[in-house]
Amino acid sequence: MRMTDLILKKRNGAHLTEEEISFLIKGYVAEEIPPYQISAWLMAVFFKGMSFEETGYLTRAMIASGKVFDLSSLGGPLVDKHSTGGVGDKVSLILAPLAAACGVQVPMMSGRALGHTGGTLDKLDSIPGYQSVISEELFRKGLKEIGFAMTGQSKDVVPADRLMYALRDVTGTVESVPLITASIMSKKFAEGAQSLIFDVKCGAGAFMKTPEAAEELAVSLVETGRSLDRKIVAVITNMDEPLGRKVGNFLEVEESLACLRGEGPEDLMEVTLRLTAWMVVAGGIVPTVEEALDLCKARLADGSAMEKFLENVELQGGDRKALLERENKARPLFYKDITAREEGYVQSIDSYALGLAGIPLGVGRNKTEDSVEPLVGYELMKKKGDSLLKGETLVRIWAESESALKSIEGQVRGAYSIAAEKPTTTPMILKEIKAL
Ligand code: URA
Repeated sequence: MRMTDLILKKRNGAHLTEEEISFLIKGYVAEEIPPYQISAWLMAVFFKGMSFEETGYLTRAMIASGKVFDLSSLGGPLVDKHSTGGVGDKVSLILAPLAAACGVQVPMMSGRALGHTGGTLDKLDSIPGYQSVISEELFRKGLKEIGFAMTGQSKDVVPADRLMYALRDVTGTVESVPLITASIMSKKFAEGAQSLIFDVKCGAGAFMKTPEAAEELAVSLVETGRSLDRKIVAVITNMDEPLGRKVGNFLEVEESLACLRGEGPEDLMEVTLRLTAWMVVAGGIVPTVEEALDLCKARLADGSAMEKFLENVELQGGDRKALLERENKARPLFYKDITAREEGYVQSIDSYALGLAGIPLGVGRNKTEDSVEPLVGYELMKKKGDSLLKGETLVRIWAESESALKSIEGQVRGAYSIAAEKPTTTPMILKEIKAL
């Protein structure tokens, strides 16, 4: 086989076989095929696309490039969730213990904040003593004894993705749906999940800005999963404004605790319950999403989901008592209330702008080496559709310095759009696509 022929074949719009894709990925990782040839192939994929079967072959070849966690001895059902990333997206912190309380095992390997979106590991690290990156042994223990554990992505998993993503980044081929699909799915399956639920976020603060783009990715994830004989559900959810009312590392842990008591904001509760319910269905615990929703609500009401969360905090070195003592109390030294200059209604909150303003504040980071601040962030007093009187607080910004507050004040105010008319509401769950 010659790489040149595979480039020509894709350039001419034909489908590659599983052997050809495997040759290409193995050759690239072994440094037998040079990056310039892979770059040409990536660009051909960008323009000509890939069938769902081909995307499945690519996913399988990428999984085979590195370590694969076999968690099947833990009993399962092993179901994980992946979100394409949003602002205020703390769903994983609530969903993992809730799904575990319903009988699902959740092997959650997450990332850190980068750019305008937050990271689950940074949120967890804001819990006193918590170790968000743990040994494989402790990860397995958590899964077996509690039903879930949280850790970082192992460097040994899907090395082909790390190499290829770096190349896509510099060759204008990141936004290719089959390449995104294989990149996301290969990591999740290599990490031990048997079935996957995707939260495909759609809106101003999301990777996919339009319903059409979100649906294209959702269909690709589900159909590629089907070609691999996996149970997959993709839920397209609204990301026109931040999810919930708190944005920031510890602030989001606090809001997750409120949700685990059944007292979280409506938008966040709705998205979390729906995604968790699909995990419960995919895990075969109950047959319908309606029954799964009832089970999830019962596990919140009887306190078992909260107990799972706190058991995980202890397993991973955190201090349950210190966490609950700090809840709603631990705040940085400085804050600034951004108030309404006129009466009216909040029309929208630009979550992308808020997310970007969160970087100098310390909610997120520009580069992977940057550090974050655990306590800073935003409390959104007003969200889309809320009425306003002149002088009322829209959002409180928490910062570790006056200068950080000053530097982002204008940007945060600019994220709010206000007008006299009450805006129409957009549902949180926009569409669901399933292969069960
Ligand atoms: N997230 C991933 O993990 N991979 C992509 O290609 C895009 C987003």
